[in-house]
Amino acid sequence: MKDNKLSRRSFVRMSTASVAALSIPGILSASADPQGQPGGQRFLPTSMPAWEPRTVNPGWDPGDSDSFTRYFFDTLMLETRYLDSDIPSTVFRLFGETFDTPIMTAALSHLRGTETESGLVVYSKAAKACNAVNWIGMGPDEEFDEVLATGAKTIRIIKPYEDNDDVIKKIRYSARQKNCLAVGMDIDHSFNGRGGYDVVMGEKMKAKKTDDLKKFVKASKVPFILKGVLSVSDAKKCLDAGVSGIMLSHHGGRVKYSIPPLMALEQIADAVGGKMKIFVDCGILSGMDAYKCLAMGADAVGVGRHFIPLLPEGSDKVAARIKEMTNELAGVMCATGVRSLDKMDPSVIHRTIL
Ligand SMILES: Cc1cc2nc3c(=O)[nH]c(=O)nc-3n(C[C@H](O)[C@H](O)[C@H](O)COP(=O)(O)O)c2cc1C
Repeated sequence: MKDNKLSRRSFVRMSTASVAALSIPGILSASADPQGQPGGQRFLPTSMPAWEPRTVNPGWDPGDSDSFTRYFFDTLMLETRYLDSDIPSTVFRLFGETFDTPIMTAALSHLRGTETESGLVVYSKAAKACNAVNWIGMGPDEEFDEVLATGAKTIRIIKPYEDNDDVIKKIRYSARQKNCLAVGMDIDHSFNGRGGYDVVMGEKMKAKKTDDLKKFVKASKVPFILKGVLSVSDAKKCLDAGVSGIMLSHHGGRVKYSIPPLMALEQIADAVGGKMKIFVDCGILSGMDAYKCLAMGADAVGVGRHFIPLLPEGSDKVAARIKEMTNELAGVMCATGVRSLDKMDPSVIHRTIL
């Protein structure tokens, strides 16, 4: 457990005004008099155009959680700490295994790869080449086996299928396989956004209770992870159910106006107190983004869509990017006086309004 996690929320510096602004998701679309006053525009995500009425700006998607997540990353600045700093280690330990980087692949599925390999095999080979943790999402057992055959230590995320027996069957199958590091569930795929249960690739999903989670944990011989946690409430229920790790994620903006995972991270890290691993994904594009997550309480980060354009170019390209991002992370660690991942210090981060 990292000692500095216990009171990390108090370390991240922010003005009261900025907390208030960032706590109101509607402020993005509701920014008053945005054209006339600089104050109205200062909350706009950097990736978005200046405010215009929606009818003449169809590219504007109110409540787009991905855009706000990017914006939130970019409001976080770092102080430098050079004295007594040196070349850092990015060695990352998880569930009894040692990895060279805390930058992991995200749980993806149904990907196009090269002419000879599926996208999942391509990025799994890349994870293996970098000695990074690999994640995989929805798919048949045969595909999971192909991924495990790459030698990558892999976490399999199983959908919240309607029938718990199907879930337990998949958990048991996965946990028996060599190289399966952990299994889990993306709980944020239970519902369809229109008040019903989701249907994914023709498969029916259903809501899950904490008691169901306890059954999944019990059925698994490897650590169980819940993906899609964005609240202290869910994180505490995971602790209660014996879950080994949580992935803070809005699943690439499945629910509009979702808070950025980083925004929930400090409170969740405080509540969890080092008793579960905390992972973060959504919108991570660089070693700098990864650093911010790690400094604020994450143990490791997942990267998904950033790698997708590289998949048709093969695993070497993906591996090169994972290594490059790890070097970027190490570069920020050098500049902020952090020698290893367990020495991350949230007081380096300054929250600002651009
Ligand atoms: C093509 C694609 C397929 C995905 N499939 C799954 C899946 O099967 N299970 C899952 O838990 N998440 C899945 N995700 C969500 C990712 O794991 C991740 O949460 C999301 O893409 C945000 O991370 P990113 O911004 O780095 O892409 C998928 C995402 C993409 C883009």
